[in-house]
Amino acid sequence: MAYIKSALLEETGYVVLDKYNQAADPKEWLDLEYVDWKSSGDTRFAPIASKTGTVECGGFWTGDEPRTDKDGLWIDSQVAKAPNLVRRAQEPGANVGRCRVIELQPTPYGETLYNLHQDDNNRLNPDGTGWVVRGFFNLTDDKDSFFVLRENRTDPAGEVRIALPAGAQLIIDTQRLWHATYHPGAEPRYCLITSWTSGPELDAYMAKYNGVNKVESVPMSEEFLAEGQRIQDEKLAARAAALAARGERDWKPVMSEA
Ligand SMILES: [Fe+2]
Repeated sequence: MAYIKSALLEETGYVVLDKYNQAADPKEWLDLEYVDWKSSGDTRFAPIASKTGTVECGGFWTGDEPRTDKDGLWIDSQVAKAPNLVRRAQEPGANVGRCRVIELQPTPYGETLYNLHQDDNNRLNPDGTGWVVRGFFNLTDDKDSFFVLRENRTDPAGEVRIALPAGAQLIIDTQRLWHATYHPGAEPRYCLITSWTSGPELDAYMAKYNGVNKVESVPMSEEFLAEGQRIQDEKLAARAAALAARGERDWKPVMSEA
């Protein structure tokens, strides 16, 4: 048995859809209730569907009756404030696990590289069922920001940088690819993140919006990229040294939240 996966996502681990006309919708994310939840970077989250149907960010595999990131329970108070976001999360018709808006404070590139992580979307996911991937709908118009994707956390070769204007729509196998967001400027970035189960519904959705699994990386100077890599190296070394000093072993950072 094997998981059901998307053929379009298999080659690169990401798909970029047509841009959504974000400016036509109200800024619903400003009305939602947020909770402090440290993820990769300085973040808060507004859950719209969660494991328990309450405004919380716990992993689906934690607490009572642990399960994989599927069958999220919609939170009535949040759904009432964000009908367009809910409509968009439900449009594919694929099973929805967690659905939440992330608020990310400005993050320099070196910090972004340090924040690179893989998600844990498929813990407890039964073999033979659909592989859980995530949709990212950029809500704010972050013209200078980009999503960073790597196959290997510390190897810049093959890094992909995907632009994040308002309406950018990405679907990413975030358990496979290391990912984090570079976000310069002064204002926070908001993005809707939805866990979807792979299958024919998600495939049809990606086809409908002309999904492509290769895009041009946002061009940055050699100096910018090298300085970011230097900072990642430095921060990872400092972290390893701090752990060693405490007699702890470093672990592979796997997060689930962004
Ligand atoms: Fe993540």
